[in-house]
Amino acid sequence: MLFLLFSVICLAGVALATPVATKRDVDLSTLSFISINSSLPKIALYSTGGTIISALSYGPLDNINYGGAPGPTPAQFVNNNSEVLNLAQIGVLSFPAPGGSAGINSSLFLNVSQYANKQLCAEGSDLVGAVVFHGTNTMIETAIGLDLTVNCSKPVIFAAAMRPDTYISPDGRSNFYQAVAAAVSPLSRDRGAMIAMNDRLTSVYYSTKTNANTPDTFKALEQGFLGNFLGGQPHYYFGASQPTGKHWFDTSNITDLPPVTILYGHQGVDAKLLYNAVENGAKGLVLIGPGPGALAPAVNAAAANLTAQGIPIVDAMRPVSGVSVPPPVPGAIIYSGYFDAEHARVQLQLAIGSGYSYDRIREVFEADLRSAIYSGHNKVVYGL
Ligand SMILES: *[C@@H]1O[C@H](CO)[C@@H](O)[C@H](O)[C@H]1NC(C)=O
Ligand SMILES: *[C@@H]1O[C@H](CO)[C@@H](O)[C@H](O)[C@H]1NC(C)=O
Ligand SMILES: *[C@@H]1O[C@H](CO)[C@@H](O)[C@H](O)[C@H]1NC(C)=O
Ligand SMILES: *[C@@H]1O[C@H](CO)[C@@H](O)[C@H](O)[C@H]1NC(C)=O
Ligand SMILES: *[C@@H]1O[C@H](CO)[C@@H](O)[C@H](O)[C@H]1NC(C)=O
Ligand SMILES: *[C@@H]1O[C@H](CO)[C@@H](O)[C@H](O)[C@H]1NC(C)=O
Ligand SMILES: *[C@@H]1O[C@H](CO)[C@@H](O)[C@H](O)[C@H]1NC(C)=O
Repeated sequence: MLFLLFSVICLAGVALATPVATKRDVDLSTLSFISINSSLPKIALYSTGGTIISALSYGPLDNINYGGAPGPTPAQFVNNNSEVLNLAQIGVLSFPAPGGSAGINSSLFLNVSQYANKQLCAEGSDLVGAVVFHGTNTMIETAIGLDLTVNCSKPVIFAAAMRPDTYISPDGRSNFYQAVAAAVSPLSRDRGAMIAMNDRLTSVYYSTKTNANTPDTFKALEQGFLGNFLGGQPHYYFGASQPTGKHWFDTSNITDLPPVTILYGHQGVDAKLLYNAVENGAKGLVLIGPGPGALAPAVNAAAANLTAQGIPIVDAMRPVSGVSVPPPVPGAIIYSGYFDAEHARVQLQLAIGSGYSYDRIREVFEADLRSAIYSGHNKVVYGL
């Protein structure tokens, strides 16, 4: 009895002495760990579904109309590919993503990001990295959302597939093994979020889906691959570095992201659609301008009207790569730089959702290119 009383007092003493200094409390309670060796590093597997864990509908060559039969759960998929359990202890957490990757909206990355910040990035967390499963169709949007909001140098690696798990030769299993190998590698730190697919590592910040059907789809056409996989292990071509001019957003107090609409510029474009989008609730617009962001006169007029009302408008290039370059003197329209429309929309949502002023939003998109281009002798050349 005395002993019990003593223990209770001791415990109370310990509780009182607990430091309150941790930035974010680690909470791994929602992760279900699968492990065969408790000495291995721990990673989180955040699954939002996708082709990687889907099954075919019509036969072993069906990479078109699959998804009819239920695929493995993320935990079953891990156990089916148990070779990865020699690399890591894997804590699985699934996120609701109704409607497949085409039905997902930004609430999903906000949710995953908030978990990643509590689990991966919290002070004292013993997770070394995270792997994320996602359908490829809108993966870049969720991936850039995480890249811009998870900021603790630990790797976040997207693993996905173009062929269902029951295909004659599925790509997802190898992509998964390689993503886990990358997530546990110290060489993967401080590079931003990456995609592990088709034996390559690609920067989320710069890449896009370049092919609707084939496994060699995620590419940064201008910046190239960051590395490849040999014998399942990552080999990086260069040392670690983050994309130039990358801006991070703190989402710890954000519960909702504002709707931002993308409008596609083409010959005969209907400029009234800009007004329609705003009437329908868009709090910002991303325009895809032909070439490096050229806008039709009627689109320019509508944009001028809307920016005067405080609606931020970001102009992105229409070609598959290149740069939407800001003009010498900052104007109302903001230029997206290297971001294509799918990346720019998410960054604009985060900037508006963070309460940034119009000038600060322009800075986030343009500051890095402005200082690169309009400096030195170019101040004279451009009359600045
Ligand atoms: C468990 O992992 C540790 C660390 O990698 C390794 O040294 C050990 O051989 C592993 N044990 C087994 C039984 O594989
Ligand atoms: C994956 O696991 C599930 C559940 O254990 C099983 O039904 C399925 O056949 C497995 N698939 C493969 C390819 O091993
Ligand atoms: C966020 O994800 C968790 C874990 O899957 C889930 O329980 C929760 O409902 C999600 N929240 C929203 C708003 O979707
Ligand atoms: C986003 O998707 C979630 C879950 O599917 C849904 O609850 C939410 O209402 C959607 N948000 C918007 C703005 O459509
Ligand atoms: C991101 O991390 C860097 C380096 O630790 C830090 O200086 C910066 O404040 C962080 N940004 C956000 C938005 O958390
Ligand atoms: C989030 O809210 C807390 C509490 O109000 C505040 O201390 C903190 O600075 C806020 N963080 C951001 C990024 O706004
Ligand atoms: C500017 O926008 C407002 C509100 O969307 C609209 O009522 C007005 O007609 C527009 N002006 C021009 C010149 O298009």
